[in-house]
Amino acid sequence: MDNRAIGIFDSGLGGLTAVKEMRRLLPNENIIYFGDTARIPYGSRSKDTIIKYAVQDIDFLLKQDVKVVLAACGTVSSTYPPSEAEKLAVPYLGVVEPAAIAAVAATKNHKIGIIGTKATIKSGSYGIAIKKMLPEVEIFQNACPLFVPVIEAGYIEKGNEITTILVKEYLTPLKEAGVDVIIMGCTHYPIIAEMISEVMGDGVTLISSGLESAKAVKHLLEANDAETTSKAAGMLKFYVSDAPDSFVEIGGVFLGASEQELYAEQITL
Ligand code: DGL
Repeated sequence: MDNRAIGIFDSGLGGLTAVKEMRRLLPNENIIYFGDTARIPYGSRSKDTIIKYAVQDIDFLLKQDVKVVLAACGTVSSTYPPSEAEKLAVPYLGVVEPAAIAAVAATKNHKIGIIGTKATIKSGSYGIAIKKMLPEVEIFQNACPLFVPVIEAGYIEKGNEITTILVKEYLTPLKEAGVDVIIMGCTHYPIIAEMISEVMGDGVTLISSGLESAKAVKHLLEANDAETTSKAAGMLKFYVSDAPDSFVEIGGVFLGASEQELYAEQITL
């Protein structure tokens, strides 16, 4: 039993896709979330810079005395070295492994599509994780560098013209390749899942890296006997490194939360 909060971070709004599922799966857990909105996007940066940012983000959460750290960011999960994660004072989880497991379980034709940031796609992280479980798999990847800026700008309502054009541009090659599963390997992407699904069609299963990582946190807490003893609704505490108002506005729409509930405090790392 451990009543400390769960620590989650991302470069911005994307990690809310993990928070949303976590609130459903673990309603009594307190959550501390950090969105590094001053330095987003991470996905077009160098490996060294992404690692440097991740180290600072994790350090901030550890100072808040969290019991587990979830990198709810495909870019960090694909870049931050496991050898560093092992040295942390609390368990660390990323989104790659949980999403890869779900994709392997879902595919029937063994053709899996992966979309993510430039850094994530370049790392090949999801493909490597999938091939360990399913060596005969065919992987089709596409980087979608413009998704994060349009999502952070709030172009998330179904049918938004700009986002629809981008979705068609990025997803059509994967549709033509005949994949039956798409991993939304950046945690921002499930926010526009409906538009992605419209292009891919009903026969294609979409895997949310954020959602799958929330399930993995639940399993980890259960396995470590580290669940909260609280029976009250868990509290959400948000920190961002810039523009809290815009985080609250767009995050609130996605989470279906009131602005009060989503109050975000601005901090400097
Ligand atoms: N949500 C992050 C990810 O999963 C966004 C990346 C970015 O900041 O470019 O990769």
